[in-house]
Amino acid sequence: MKSRLAKACGAEYPIFAFSHCRDVVIEVSRSGGVGVLGLVRSTPEQVELDLRVISEAVGGKPFGVDVLFPVGDIPTDKAELSARIPDEHRRFVAEIMARYNVPEGDVPDAVVAGVAGGAKATMQDGLEIGEVALKYGAKVVASALGPPPAAFVEQVRESGALLFGLCGGGDQARRHVAAGADAVVAQGTEAGGHTGDLATMIVVPEVVDAISPVPVLAAGGISDGRQIAAGLALGADAVWTGSIWLGTAESELDPIVKQKLVDARSRDTLRSRCISGKTVRQLRTPWVELWEGEDAPKTLPMPLQGMLVAESQRRIFRHRVSELMGTPAGQAIGRINAIRPTREVFYDLVQGFAEASTRFTELLED
Ligand SMILES: Cc1cc2nc3c(=O)[nH]c(=O)nc-3n(C[C@H](O)[C@H](O)[C@H](O)COP(=O)(O)O)c2cc1C
Repeated sequence: MKSRLAKACGAEYPIFAFSHCRDVVIEVSRSGGVGVLGLVRSTPEQVELDLRVISEAVGGKPFGVDVLFPVGDIPTDKAELSARIPDEHRRFVAEIMARYNVPEGDVPDAVVAGVAGGAKATMQDGLEIGEVALKYGAKVVASALGPPPAAFVEQVRESGALLFGLCGGGDQARRHVAAGADAVVAQGTEAGGHTGDLATMIVVPEVVDAISPVPVLAAGGISDGRQIAAGLALGADAVWTGSIWLGTAESELDPIVKQKLVDARSRDTLRSRCISGKTVRQLRTPWVELWEGEDAPKTLPMPLQGMLVAESQRRIFRHRVSELMGTPAGQAIGRINAIRPTREVFYDLVQGFAEASTRFTELLED
């Protein structure tokens, strides 16, 4: 395929896969795509370990990382920030925890698979993590929210890696390009995680037109080959996927959540600010519904909302309080009908794309 991005990365297919799980990343990259490890919740030490394992396992095939460079300067004084959280909000969380009998007592701030304790990262974390990633040969560094500082963009260039920015509209895309992005992920509202309100069908051509000739990756709802063909038809050079990998054997999500994804239909997600303070599309659970209810206090801005809910999320997952366990997830979860190996999901995408392309060609023939 003549995808500029696949070529520039040295990948066989223009399929990029975002995941927080190391083994999903490895399997996608080994299969001919580009696995991109999400590092928003990691420390530089964990990143060092994960990237060492990935770079050895992929044997020269391309992989990437996704780092958070927060928009604006987020203060780092935790005590000062904590003092800004109103009692009303703390009471609301305590009431939910009591209603669902979640055992008392915090659990260590270790990574608990599937827990979205809000984006805690600071600009400094983003820089440290980005530098580790370049050391281990990441081919792509994606910036989840704001663009990175100029000095880091320079480092990425020198390393030969590509810098991607995620966006939900044309203006944001232009800002990423002005800051030095080599490509932009145009993400529709269908997507899991932080997401805007424009549909993939609208946002992809909008971003393509806004930043042409800079290449665009289509994202949001892509879970089979027909949607890959659609994304490329909209002018994208490659696709960027996330939710579909949550239901793989290699995904480290708690089995309770994986089963919820298998059972879920496309309508079982909600966009809510209840995890991080910014709109995150996630699996519908009583936790999200209560925050979206009329009695709920207004969610707090980033990073306060994340700080408010982090401990309760850890407790919910540690004690496996099934009703409240959720995950960021997009509408594509309607197509997760069984837990399958990453490699199998990947090859289905490739085959479905080939079939869709053939149908397209046939349609154009007399
Ligand atoms: C569980 C989950 C967590 C996510 N976390 C991040 C993140 O930390 N950084 C980021 O740039 N994107 C994140 N995303 C968004 C993905 O990068 C991607 O844009 C999105 O999943 C694509 O849409 P899809 O979910 O419909 O495939 C996340 C998505 C999911 C499903």
